[in-house]
Amino acid sequence: MTNRQTDAGGRSSPNTSPLRFLTGITTTGAPHLGNFVGSIRPSVAASQLAGVQGFYFLADYDALIKCDEPARIQRSTLEIAASWLAAGLEPDRVTVYRQSDIPEIPELTWLLTCIAGKGLLNRAHAYKAAVDKNLAAGNDPDVDVSAGLFMYPVLMAADILMFKAHQVPVGRDQIQHIEMARDMAQRFNHLYGEHFVLPEAVTEESVALLPGLDGRKMSKSYDNTIALFAPREQLRKLIAGIVTDSRAPGEAKEVEGSALFQIYQAFASAPETAALRQAYADGIAWSDAKQLLFERIERDVAPMRERYHALINDPASIEALLQAGAEKARAVATPFLRELRQAVGLRNLDSLSAAAPKSKAARTAAPAFKQYREKDGKFYFKLVDANARVLLQSQGFESPREAALTIARLQKEGSTALATLRGEVAAANGIAAGELDAALQFFAPVAI
Ligand code: TRP
Repeated sequence: MTNRQTDAGGRSSPNTSPLRFLTGITTTGAPHLGNFVGSIRPSVAASQLAGVQGFYFLADYDALIKCDEPARIQRSTLEIAASWLAAGLEPDRVTVYRQSDIPEIPELTWLLTCIAGKGLLNRAHAYKAAVDKNLAAGNDPDVDVSAGLFMYPVLMAADILMFKAHQVPVGRDQIQHIEMARDMAQRFNHLYGEHFVLPEAVTEESVALLPGLDGRKMSKSYDNTIALFAPREQLRKLIAGIVTDSRAPGEAKEVEGSALFQIYQAFASAPETAALRQAYADGIAWSDAKQLLFERIERDVAPMRERYHALINDPASIEALLQAGAEKARAVATPFLRELRQAVGLRNLDSLSAAAPKSKAARTAAPAFKQYREKDGKFYFKLVDANARVLLQSQGFESPREAALTIARLQKEGSTALATLRGEVAAANGIAAGELDAALQFFAPVAI
């Protein structure tokens, strides 16, 4: 994995909880080589790291936004699940589930819908592109734009926030959605207390860069894909169809801009890539280069293809696996949604019995941590009292996770943590140590 835009800063902290990593694939088709290189392969590799908790889901609610073929959605769910497993995902190590098995996700989508700014959603790329296309064609801006497409960033935020994911690996076209999810989390936390973890996008430079048959980005929408598990002979034929220039055998060839070279590089080791680079310079024939590419891909894909076909032919066992995954996922989602319902006021009336404290008063008397991001791109927090007076201010952290871990320490250890966190947090101007100590004690775990 190269050129990470962000990293898992803060993981060396002593009281770390595992880093949570979440990824979803929309169930609208069969995976192609671009999906494998950009998403499946790196996310399966991540699942094998120690200290990482992975959530892998089949985004079938998302699929409804762009696909009205029920059989295709069902088939794609099977194909993507089988692809993950064939590529080495171990369901015992991670949580693999189907989005639509988690009814808490659409419920959370509604809670977030009520705090998401419409103006924010107006700026979402996918929605804006649809509107711009209509305008360019001289049409009404809303032609063929569903409310689902408009709300897509909210559903995606619910996917992510439901599982308190720290990191979400995405292609660059999806970074905006993660920013929007963070925005919604921040707003919710501001209104109702710190419930959500602020997620961050992780992008790999190589993601989304795999070219397709015609040299443009490999994408279903360009119809230039190579199916990941195409049968061997079909794979050979597809590779033979990759665009090249007209240079004859013996003529030196450019690696720059060569789709064939770039696809090879996505599978090959550094020495293998160097060897092909040399072969280009030495004037390798395109047909020979294509044969090398075919063999290189086949080497990685053939064993997976065999597992894939065995899995595809046993949908019942995949279904059982997804059911077990849903149970694991709901063990997280159900209690968390209960907490969120309580936070926003969807409450049982029993708590209004005379003995119970008035919840509004209890909430407003409490100090609170507020997390935010500044223009410098860093993540900050402050501790404010009931009157929004700042008691404590943090430095900028590289990741929201580092900020969250520091908050967790302050909540757990109170003012004794201040000495070791000097340089990371400081009392605000004019705030006495005693006052800060009293505020932090509010968060101290209650012994029972
Ligand atoms: N939008 C992603 C795709 O098109 C799928 C997806 C849905 C997703 N919700 C997500 C990815 C949450 C990461 C996190 O494939």
